[in-house]
Amino acid sequence: MAKKIGILDYPMVSVDFTPRIPPIKKINDKTKIDIRYCLISPFAYVHIYWDPKEYEVVYEIEEPILTKEEDIARDKVVKAMRNMINFKEIIGGSNETLFEYIDKRFKLLAIEMGIELTYESYKKIYYYLVRDFMGFNEVEPLLRDYFVEDIECNGANTPVYLVHRIFRNLKTNLVFNDNESLESFVEKLAQRCGKYISYAEPILDGSLPDGSRVNATYTKDVTSKGPTFTIRKFTKTPWTPPQLISFNTLSPEMLAYLWLLVQYKMNLLVVGGTASGKTTLLNAIAFFIPPEARVVSIEDTRELNLPRDNWLPSVARSATGVKGLGEIDMFELLRASFRQNPDYVIVGEVRGKEASVLFQGMASGHSSISTIHADSIETVIKRLETPPIELSPTLLNVLDSMCVMTHAIVRNQETRKLREIVEVVNIGENDVALTNTPFMWDSSEDKFYFKKESRLFQKIYHRYGITPEQLSAEFRRRAELLYRLYQRKIFGFREVQDIINEYYKKPEEVLAKFGVN
Ligand SMILES: Nc1ncnc2c1ncn2[C@@H]1O[C@H](COP(=O)(O)OP(=O)(O)OP(=O)(O)O)[C@@H](O)[C@H]1O
Ligand SMILES: [Mg+2]
Repeated sequence: MAKKIGILDYPMVSVDFTPRIPPIKKINDKTKIDIRYCLISPFAYVHIYWDPKEYEVVYEIEEPILTKEEDIARDKVVKAMRNMINFKEIIGGSNETLFEYIDKRFKLLAIEMGIELTYESYKKIYYYLVRDFMGFNEVEPLLRDYFVEDIECNGANTPVYLVHRIFRNLKTNLVFNDNESLESFVEKLAQRCGKYISYAEPILDGSLPDGSRVNATYTKDVTSKGPTFTIRKFTKTPWTPPQLISFNTLSPEMLAYLWLLVQYKMNLLVVGGTASGKTTLLNAIAFFIPPEARVVSIEDTRELNLPRDNWLPSVARSATGVKGLGEIDMFELLRASFRQNPDYVIVGEVRGKEASVLFQGMASGHSSISTIHADSIETVIKRLETPPIELSPTLLNVLDSMCVMTHAIVRNQETRKLREIVEVVNIGENDVALTNTPFMWDSSEDKFYFKKESRLFQKIYHRYGITPEQLSAEFRRRAELLYRLYQRKIFGFREVQDIINEYYKKPEEVLAKFGVN
């Protein structure tokens, strides 16, 4: 007879928290709404449909149903695991290591406690373990729904409501059955926001690691329904590099050049006036960061969105709510983030004293990309050198390149253009700046020109021991690849990121796939 397979032999289950976004069309007749899509693959789905009894559209989360025995087993494992899991470790680790960690602990605990499970039961329980230890328990599927904008819970024993991008206000089948479970959920929210909530300080105003805003209350006041929370999800989907080509904001060559600069850790600053597209370009450039690099981003309000795991976004907060608690400014955040030893630091917008921390970080080898409000290179330099920023010319020289964004009217159409890319050669005393401008947009013809040799390419040859021929061939290949992506209308944010990541690992295969020689 064959040897019995033990739990240790069960293959690890893969849980995908970011499945593909389904295409959803608006349906005008509400009674015809009936759609189902995946939230956490392959375990959690949502079914949105017209409920004739309730006479409204409802949002029904579908998750694996546990048998009584499975539920007991899960409970035992959760209790035992809670005592042994080091949460600090969990929050710092990558998803891959966490999955493995939980899988291993689960299997060993099951053996230790004499819990026998079929593979089917094991899979279901494993899902609940990762959902609860890594995510936000029963709310996690909602947080994973790309279309969900707001999640609102007005107390125990009443359904959680949400705002859906397409179907707007919907009632869900999620209900917290008692105050205790809701309270512990609110505590978890506070903890992940890096804040504290208690009866003494019953109001929480914070943001989750992914940038979502959280408001919560914590009260046993008999007149109220108990604890409440709202989560305003962060949902902006950024434009990808091929999309910017399609808007004719910049050329594939400009992007290929920026890709090389990012890969070789040059420091970039995007310059431009109000709403000129600085943040949009910054986000597109961030797609080029090598997949294994550790990225930290810092913003005032959350706008950036990078489809990558190895990313620690943080948002500065002004004093709000009770007693001005929880105020963290960009300066402090930036100082804290350098201690995390990032490869790349992205600052949403440089305004004040945080600039000195940023430039010192660059000087000590952390690559950075950020934006600054200014209309020209001269004004940038002036702004950086005068109060409140006041950087020394020596420090300014750690900056490698500046991209100038501008509004432009082309054939009566309002557009955004990457007007020029400037390389900093030397910034001396008295604002004298020596620069080189490899790329320019010509307004009379609405064309982009690669004008001159790049000085930064020379820096790359010297620093990384690459020959000029190799680098310029690489530049051509990448420009061609980006052009092909644009031609084939490959604009999706995950898709584009996957291709760029793949290119870092197997460039020949990617080039062949898109017909670049
Ligand atoms: N390349 C582009 N083509 C067309 N529209 C764009 C482009 N880039 C940005 N926009 C639009 O312009 C608006 C402002 O973009 P963005 O936030 O990137 O600008 P910004 O310069 O960072 O603005 P702010 O001065 O507020 O920081 C957005 O609503 C966006 O839709
Ligand atoms: Mg901006």
